[in-house]
Amino acid sequence: MRRIAVLGSTGSIGTQTLDVARRHPGKIEIVALAAGRRAHEAFEQAKEFNVRTIALGKEPDFEIPDGIEVSVGPNAVADLVSLDEVDVVVNALVGAAGLRASYETLKAGKVLALANKESLVVGGDLIMPLAAKVDSQRRESGLAPETGPAGALMPIDSEHGAIYQCLIGEEHREVERLWVTASGGPFRGKKRDELKGITAKEALAHPTWNMGPKITIDSSTLMNKGLEVIEAHHLFDMPYDKISVVVQPQSAIHSMVEFSDGSVKAHLGTTDMRIPIQYALSYPERWDAPVEPLDFTKLGSLEFAEPDTETFKCLALARAAGMQGGTLPCVMNAANEIAVAAFLAGEGTYLGIAECVEAVMNMHDVQSVESIDQLLGIDTWAREQAKSNIR
Ligand SMILES: NC(=O)c1ccc[n+]([C@@H]2O[C@H](COP(=O)([O-])OP(=O)(O)OC[C@H]3O[C@@H](n4cnc5c(N)ncnc54)[C@H](OP(=O)(O)O)[C@@H]3O)[C@@H](O)[C@H]2O)c1
Repeated sequence: MRRIAVLGSTGSIGTQTLDVARRHPGKIEIVALAAGRRAHEAFEQAKEFNVRTIALGKEPDFEIPDGIEVSVGPNAVADLVSLDEVDVVVNALVGAAGLRASYETLKAGKVLALANKESLVVGGDLIMPLAAKVDSQRRESGLAPETGPAGALMPIDSEHGAIYQCLIGEEHREVERLWVTASGGPFRGKKRDELKGITAKEALAHPTWNMGPKITIDSSTLMNKGLEVIEAHHLFDMPYDKISVVVQPQSAIHSMVEFSDGSVKAHLGTTDMRIPIQYALSYPERWDAPVEPLDFTKLGSLEFAEPDTETFKCLALARAAGMQGGTLPCVMNAANEIAVAAFLAGEGTYLGIAECVEAVMNMHDVQSVESIDQLLGIDTWAREQAKSNIR
């Protein structure tokens, strides 16, 4: 039985994680939940899964049902991960708010099933050494599989889950390139001039994936792909010049790995996040999936194209931030979160998102990453600068 805490249980990844748990009651036990504002939904989930511990982003405005222990605030969410009864933490929080939870999960020696890519973008330099430590502990205590990765940090992002699977049984030195696939988002093929008056409603209509609002906007600007390039760099210890992005509009190929002999392994599957979520929880096993399998007879053609980084500048900005490293990805990410929130609130423009990110990146004196508190301080600074640079 895997005893799981779901952080962000009311969101897109959180609810799909609970779907996976519904399908496998004998293998997964949900023992703790964390949510932000949707307290009612969180309590309904607690009732269904018989969960007694909940952390909330803000105080609920109703009476707490008997038998449920509730804590409130950012520390409450991070504290949940160290509970004795938790073996695995699904971090499905959105944004840099998930950083501390990722860090504390690994520090407590637990498995981190990570959807919150911003954690790695901002704090990969701190998180990856911790993951390596938990991997060693898992090997020493016999919790790791006999072959393959020890499984302390399991990616939930479909691209990284795909690469993770392609790399099993392979030697790191024989990997030539990681190919991260992108759907291209709803504005694929459009030029800057055509994107001037884009509204939040238009940008929220993603062609292939149904996701939370922040990642949907990030997908449309290609910032999401930029965040994923940085995530891949940390997760798979790959230099940036060996990580390429290719647009694959059908989203059937979830990513690929090219090897030194020219062979390429691709991971294909239905576009349903419950598959990578489940794999992150079942590894090294595979369990039946609650989804339709891919029907190749109906798939039609597979297209590939180079991403247009002139129009979708966020991808180039994120890659530049990753390559420079240190605290720059933290600043880039914080500015993006503020610019996206402003766009969704009707206070900033679509093209203004990249402009804001670039302006704040240019103001920052890059430091090497030393601590979570340092990153949180820089994140706060970058958010303030971004608020004055909404365009
Ligand atoms: N959705 C996808 O298909 C997908 C795919 C790959 C990766 N990801 C990544 O997964 C993460 C989650 O994405 P999502 O699409 O699931 O986002 P989402 O639907 O917006 O859900 C975010 C979750 O975080 C909770 N939350 C926000 N602020 C909080 C706080 N201060 N304290 C406690 N909980 C808080 C929300 O709670 P309330 O709603 O109750 O406020 C909600 O449960 C992101 O990093 C995203 O990039 C998502």
